[in-house]
Amino acid sequence: HEIKNPLTPIQLSAERLKRKYQNEVTSDPETFTTCTDTIIRQVEDIGRMVDEFSSFARMPQPSIGRENLSHLIREVVTLERSRTEDITIDLALPDGDMMLRCDRRQVSRALTNILKNAAESVESRILQDKSEDGEGDPGRISVAVIDGRGQGGGDESVAVIVEDNGIGLPEAGRERLTEPYVTTRSKGTGLGLAIVRKIMEDHQGDLRLEDRPGGGARISLVFRDLDETANDGDKDPMKVATGLGLG
Ligand SMILES: Nc1ncnc2c1ncn2[C@@H]1O[C@H](COP(=O)(O)OP(=O)(O)O)[C@@H](O)[C@H]1O
Ligand SMILES: [Mg+2]
Repeated sequence: HEIKNPLTPIQLSAERLKRKYQNEVTSDPETFTTCTDTIIRQVEDIGRMVDEFSSFARMPQPSIGRENLSHLIREVVTLERSRTEDITIDLALPDGDMMLRCDRRQVSRALTNILKNAAESVESRILQDKSEDGEGDPGRISVAVIDGRGQGGGDESVAVIVEDNGIGLPEAGRERLTEPYVTTRSKGTGLGLAIVRKIMEDHQGDLRLEDRPGGGARISLVFRDLDETANDGDKDPMKVATGLGLG
C-alpha cells in the first residue's frame, strides 16, 4: 500500500498535464506526448505488479462452499473476453450446472491468471509473426471443462483445460515455472502460476502444464470433490480453533 498510494496521484497528474497542455505545447509537442504517455503506461504497469505481489503475500485461507462452477467459469471468461478483444476465447461447458465444493474467489483468480498468461503468450506470438512479415493464425484461446464425476469411467475429476495458440511454454526449466518469481517475460513478476499452484494445493487438486498439439500451451486445473466433512474454510470456528482447517 505504501507503494501503491502515490501511484494514483502520479497517474492523474500526468493525465491532467496531457489533457491541459497538449495543445499549448508548441516547441516539441511529440516529446511532450511521448513522455506523458510513458509515465501513464509505466505507472499502470507498476500498479499491476504491486497488486500481484501484495495478493501473493496475503493469500487467504480457503473458504470452501458448494459453488456453481459453470457460472463461475462463464463469468471469468466473459470478463477476459472484454479485456482481450483481438483474441477469440471459445468456451465449451457440459450441459447443465456443474457444482463443485471450492473457494469461489480463489478458483476465479486461478482461472483469471491462466487466461492472462494465455493471452500474453498469444499476443507475443502475434507480434513475432508480424515482425517476420508472416500472416500468422488469429489469436485463439479455448476453455473446455471435462467433468468425469459420476460417469463410471473411473475418473472422478473435473478438469478445466485452457489451450492457446501462443508462443508455447519455454523448453527449459518447465518444472520451475510454478515457483514464485520465475518468469520469462520482461514485465513479469513470476507470481501468476505460483498463486495458481497454491490455490490448487488448497483444493487438493493438480495444475498441469503441457504443450498444445499444433503449438501453444495447454494448462489444466484438475479438481476432485472435496470431502463434505473437510471444512468450510475459516467459516467454521471449531476447525479454526483446533487448527484442523484445510491448508
Ligand atoms: N500460456 C502460456 N504460454 C507460454 N508460456 C507460459 C504460459 N503460461 C505461463 N507461461 C510461462 O510461465 C512463466 C511464469 O508464469 P507466471 O507465473 O504467470 O508469471 P509471469 O506471467 O509474471 O511471467 C511465464 O513467464 C511463461 O514463461
Ligand atoms: Mg502471469
